[in-house]
Amino acid sequence: MSVLHDTRSYHLNHPIDLMTEFTVCESLGSPGSPTLRALGMPKSYGAVLGERLRDRGLFGKGCRICEIGGGYGSLMRGLLEAHRDDVDRVVMVDLSRALIGIQRRALEPWQDRVSFVLGDALELLPAISGVDLFLVNEMIGDLPVWTGLDPKNLPPEARSVIRRYRLAVPEAGPFHFNIGAIRLVEAVCRKGVPAFLSEHSSDPVIPRTMPFLVKGLATDGWPREIRLTSHSEYTIRFSHLEQVARALGREVETGSLLELIGYSQAEKARFIFNARACATDEQALVFEFLDHVREYRWLIIR
Ligand SMILES: C[S@@+](CC[C@H](N)C(=O)[O-])C[C@H]1O[C@@H](n2cnc3c(N)ncnc32)[C@H](O)[C@@H]1O
Repeated sequence: MSVLHDTRSYHLNHPIDLMTEFTVCESLGSPGSPTLRALGMPKSYGAVLGERLRDRGLFGKGCRICEIGGGYGSLMRGLLEAHRDDVDRVVMVDLSRALIGIQRRALEPWQDRVSFVLGDALELLPAISGVDLFLVNEMIGDLPVWTGLDPKNLPPEARSVIRRYRLAVPEAGPFHFNIGAIRLVEAVCRKGVPAFLSEHSSDPVIPRTMPFLVKGLATDGWPREIRLTSHSEYTIRFSHLEQVARALGREVETGSLLELIGYSQAEKARFIFNARACATDEQALVFEFLDHVREYRWLIIR
């Protein structure tokens, strides 16, 4: 039986504990983090993301950024620490009052240029203006998902979206469909503003230099449930998001998050990953990170 899975009332009332979830933002949150040290990388995720977006011409002097679902504010803190002179304005949009409070404290040094909006991104996006770039990091997996779908008996909303964008679905069900992530991509596309999104994917891209990371992973799969404390999120079928953005006249670029952050110690990674070598704390951190992040994909819409 198909059911619309919706975590919005959960996020509204229970701030998620990001320490019980593995998030790239928190693991690579500050230059001294144990995971960054184990990976031999000097810069925080926010700092590196700023560089990658600058390389692609999406970020630079005077930039006005809107981050949707900023959690503890770690990505934005890292980005502002490294690129403060380039950022003119920041708007943080989040459904959780408690997390907005944490973000406000994390971003206090830049309080003159940061504002906070409490609400559901799917409802608020059409009203947001004066933004040059949207950042949506590890948030779309929390948006509504049609679960348990039968391809031959789809609910009208799912059927019309699948037909409109000619999205592939499996021949036999049940399968899950990221309707909320698609609605968010539609809303971003209508704004005509570039966006960076990242999330766990059901169709991950494996870095060319680390083919061993594919072991046990479906690279053309359908969204699967990830059970977390008191709620679930779903992996994202990124090829669907790409197709929606293209159909709405936007250009897209996508790839592996591991590649984007610039982790390049392929030989060391191969040894630790294949041998599941966790003899030292450093190896254990690298293994945990690789095992997790290999499923992550990013998407730039411009
Ligand atoms: C898994 S956390 C990710 C936090 C952070 N971006 C990171 O990468 O660690 C999801 C974030 O999205 C927010 N969120 C979930 N659903 C939302 C919605 N419909 N509108 C706005 N924010 C939402 C949550 O409150 C939380 O801040």
